[in-house]
Amino acid sequence: MKKLFKIKRQDSPEGQNYWEEFEMVLPVGATLIQVLEQIRLRPITVNQQAVNPVAWDSCCHQAICGSCAMTVNGRPVLACSTVVEDLPEPVVVEPLSSFGVMRDLVVTFDGARQVAFLDGARQAAPLRNVTPTPCIDCNVCMEACPQYGNSDYVGPKVLYQMAEGLKQGLETRLATSVIKSLMNEGGVDDCQNAQNCVQVCPQKLPLTESIAYLKREVAIQAFKELFR
Ligand code: SF4
Ligand code: FES
Repeated sequence: MKKLFKIKRQDSPEGQNYWEEFEMVLPVGATLIQVLEQIRLRPITVNQQAVNPVAWDSCCHQAICGSCAMTVNGRPVLACSTVVEDLPEPVVVEPLSSFGVMRDLVVTFDGARQVAFLDGARQAAPLRNVTPTPCIDCNVCMEACPQYGNSDYVGPKVLYQMAEGLKQGLETRLATSVIKSLMNEGGVDDCQNAQNCVQVCPQKLPLTESIAYLKREVAIQAFKELFR
């Protein structure tokens, strides 16, 4: 089966983006990573022009490492678990738009805002020490969230991890500090309940439940502070 792929290219972080199209012959069940690998072996566009191979990030090819997130036909996905045969043509492949492009489909996640948010409550170290969550840090939920990137909102991934930290039973003083940090700008109130995150998470994590849990904790804390 032949399929047309339209890929957004960018040669450097400062460069202009442009599009190139590739027509590929696919084996049954081919994933997007396999398509990109084919293009790397023979980087010839649909117009028979030889071009530079497309750059992308990947490692495990088993939806474990979280490194291959990109946008396909407008939806953020993991390229290694996206089967392309049923996708409408042309299959439009772009880098995640909420992050800086390094080259082609490779982006960088600047987590400075998230770390500052946690450090603001002096909670970075305790939260990092809790049992690891099933989140693979792919940022697919961050890309799908209409709030992330348009405000200081720290994003669903960070809130999920904070909720897991709280549920694992932080000592009361630390838990209060975490909850207070969630009341800051960029915190849990910036979630407008679009619920896109939970629809795209490849790990099917209960992101909206975690955010609802944090909103309840914040409301209880605000109530306590009223009567102090
Ligand atoms: S919460 Fe889900 S979508 Fe978001 S970074 Fe973690 S695994 Fe990826
Ligand atoms: S290559 Fe590891 S998640 Fe896709």
